[in-house]
Amino acid sequence: MRAEDTPLIRLEDYRPADWLIDTVDLDISLAPHETRVRAQLGLRPNPAGEPGAALVLDGDELSLAGLSLDGALLDGADFEATAQSLTIHAPPQRGFTLAIETVLDPSANTKLMGLYRSSNVYCTQCEADGFRRITYFLDRPDVMSVYTVRLEARKAEAPVLLSNGNRVATGDVAGTDRHFAVWHDPHPKPAYLFALVGGALDHVREDYVTADGRKTELAVYVEPGKAGRAGWALDSLVRCMRWDERVFGRNYDLDVFNVVAVSDFNMGAMENKGLNIFNDKYVLADPQTATDGDYASIEAIIAHEYFHNWTGNRITCRDWFQLCLKEGLTVFRDQEFSADERSRPVKRIADVRTLRATQFSEDAGPLAHPVRPRAYKEINNFYTPTVYEKGAEVIRMLKTLIGEDAFARGMDFYFERCDGTAATIEDFLACFAESSGQDLAHFARWYEQAGTPTIVASGRYDKASRSYTLELAQTTPPTPGQPEKQPVVLPVALGLVGKAGDLPLRSASNAYAGDGLVVLDQPSLSVTFTNIDEPPIPSLLRGFSAPARLELDLADDGLLRLFSADSDSFNRWQALQTVATRALTAAGRGDAPSAALTAKTGELAAALGIFLDEQALSDPAFAAQVLRLPAPADIAREIGKDVDPDAIHAAHRALAAGIGEKLAARLTALREKLDKKGPYSPDAEAAGRRALRNEALGLLALGDPVTGAGIAEAQYEAADNLTDRLAALAAMTLIPGEARERLIVRFGDLYATEPLVLDKWLMAQALIAEPGTLDRVKTLMSHPSFSLGNPNRVRALIGGFAANLTQFNRADGAGYDFIADIVIALDRTNPQVASRLLGSFKTWRMLEPGRRSLAHSALSMVSGTPNLSRDVADIAERALA
Ligand code: PHE
Ligand code: ZN
Repeated sequence: MRAEDTPLIRLEDYRPADWLIDTVDLDISLAPHETRVRAQLGLRPNPAGEPGAALVLDGDELSLAGLSLDGALLDGADFEATAQSLTIHAPPQRGFTLAIETVLDPSANTKLMGLYRSSNVYCTQCEADGFRRITYFLDRPDVMSVYTVRLEARKAEAPVLLSNGNRVATGDVAGTDRHFAVWHDPHPKPAYLFALVGGALDHVREDYVTADGRKTELAVYVEPGKAGRAGWALDSLVRCMRWDERVFGRNYDLDVFNVVAVSDFNMGAMENKGLNIFNDKYVLADPQTATDGDYASIEAIIAHEYFHNWTGNRITCRDWFQLCLKEGLTVFRDQEFSADERSRPVKRIADVRTLRATQFSEDAGPLAHPVRPRAYKEINNFYTPTVYEKGAEVIRMLKTLIGEDAFARGMDFYFERCDGTAATIEDFLACFAESSGQDLAHFARWYEQAGTPTIVASGRYDKASRSYTLELAQTTPPTPGQPEKQPVVLPVALGLVGKAGDLPLRSASNAYAGDGLVVLDQPSLSVTFTNIDEPPIPSLLRGFSAPARLELDLADDGLLRLFSADSDSFNRWQALQTVATRALTAAGRGDAPSAALTAKTGELAAALGIFLDEQALSDPAFAAQVLRLPAPADIAREIGKDVDPDAIHAAHRALAAGIGEKLAARLTALREKLDKKGPYSPDAEAAGRRALRNEALGLLALGDPVTGAGIAEAQYEAADNLTDRLAALAAMTLIPGEARERLIVRFGDLYATEPLVLDKWLMAQALIAEPGTLDRVKTLMSHPSFSLGNPNRVRALIGGFAANLTQFNRADGAGYDFIADIVIALDRTNPQVASRLLGSFKTWRMLEPGRRSLAHSALSMVSGTPNLSRDVADIAERALA
């Protein structure tokens, strides 16, 4: 496949299906190499479609084993079956039943789309278009059907048989070693939400009664022997169900809710109706094999998939262009849940870090696209940070702009009016236009226009009139296919900070919406605040109220005052990050003398020292975020062109080492105070203490490698949980030498039978910022734990290396060639994982000319490879365009 040969699918070409499928009856007889699928589709002409149209069903690598219409075999001349489609030339123009038989080999399915086997467990993945790998179908989300599924398998091989909905029958198949289960899902759904699971699995379960009185049985299924690690996922499920009842008024709607963990999965997890299937990394947790970060992600992803039951399943998407309708909204919902369960400011900071690292960098490169793309060749390449994370920011801005009450009423309208439908962004926005009485036409541009806006802000205090005038301007840089940009609606939450805290805000300007909110919806505007008795310091974009870059004319001393005095925690954190970013940007560009970085190191260390003395112990989780400098990749993005990764890395190391050295005594003392004895608990408070201790450890390791190594080794010995053990290992990876190598071996031996922990071990090594890393990674590819067939292993080792700023971007290009070769090899078995890996090249255009040309060669090598998948061909083509 060459990308040029693939048709472009366009939003404006949408038209309703010509046929509807009201019912789907599946009879699936599972066997490792020969699984038989008998599908009976209850079809009828769609009144909204083309009258008299042929019936063209989608397929993918299918072969037809039987076909009949209303019970009669079809004549060969009446249909045409290929691997990609099944066409009935002249179907009756009335309701009829089509019976289709296909035979699959789930063991040979390495793409992990459709029906496959993962460690002897049968499972499915149908989003976005995997159902067509199971049977011929109208595989599009606006075709919704009621499913009844009979599963049959050898009892010994698959004692557990699960599908969507409620279990309505089970039994033995007389005279055989086989058994069956029948599942019925009363809620019409698109095919992408179909799922089945069959295998020998253990489970944990809990009864749950919904707020509206429905008794439901919750269960989490895991590999045999791992039930002891399923408790946190189940606990998270119960908490997020209660939260959705309380906050969004949403109740669960079936008699069972099942979660299944599988070890080979292309993504994080999948919201199949009543049967969520998870990458086991986002289910399994105990203190010895999961970190605090894992506990938090499990909680968030369990919630995310559960929340899809309403935002995604009950209300689904009309077409895949509307992907953000379910994903942006559901990310927003899971972020809010985690904020309520943990610390809201800390969650916001973590989310903004991720947004900037993943989405801002996507927006700044050749793969930039709008939250609602207008065209695609391969939809699987649009499960992106832009659709997910920026999509969530758009919802957050909507809430900020119209206010909490109108937002809540709009959500209620949406749930009432769109329930049971396949909806669009327009349907969604209409609910909020009505609930708020506002015209959201301009706001809707956020869905259409790609690129990260920059807000330029400057302020002036006028003593005579006791007023403060803020000038705001916005621009959005061009992105592929969108050379000209229009202004967007930017909610700028702000405060004016005086000596004794926030000054009361009064303004007659139209742009001032009250409650500390300025709405910047034009290229530029100015807002004057009156009755201001002292020159204030502006605190802008509080809580990161819009996904934009902010260029603020405020000197570092003003920022340092915000760091100590702002009432908005996010902006306190941001102020210090901005000071550090400015210093690192200048040093990384090579346009500041090294003395400047040294001086800034002193200022930052002094500010941090005071902060640690006065506040670190009262909110360790926040303090951990404060201590963590912007990442080298953030600095690269900020510099934006002719980037030299080595210069950035050197500056970053120098700053971290300088802070570590200057604060050594304090950090050591702080670590001791934070060292609470007692059994491990994953709660936010305990996790916050560990996070701060381990952030301090990283700085100490760089500040004084000899002492730092001693502390790290001692921590490794004393650790009773993976979080502390892994942090000790990570600190040691910063310090070259024998001791590091010994610890790497010990850690590998300790966890030799724990693939998910070895993933962290592989990644920690892949991230070492030293020239030997490429060889180390190549060697690790022959480690017994590694396999190119398992997506988690690939993401850990190969993906980890591709995220290593200095080593992926080696000046000799060997990093690019290595990743390109793996992409090509992997594309033959798993195109989705291959194309995600190729996405590592998304920032190649911002590099200095030497690296840029080497990256270009590697990308061209990929794109020139014959028989690429559509997935990889599409990314290569867009990255090179
Ligand atoms: N819909 C899944 C989620 O976000 C992601 C996913 C997409 C999983 C495609 C598998 C395949 O919640
Ligand atoms: Zn999702």
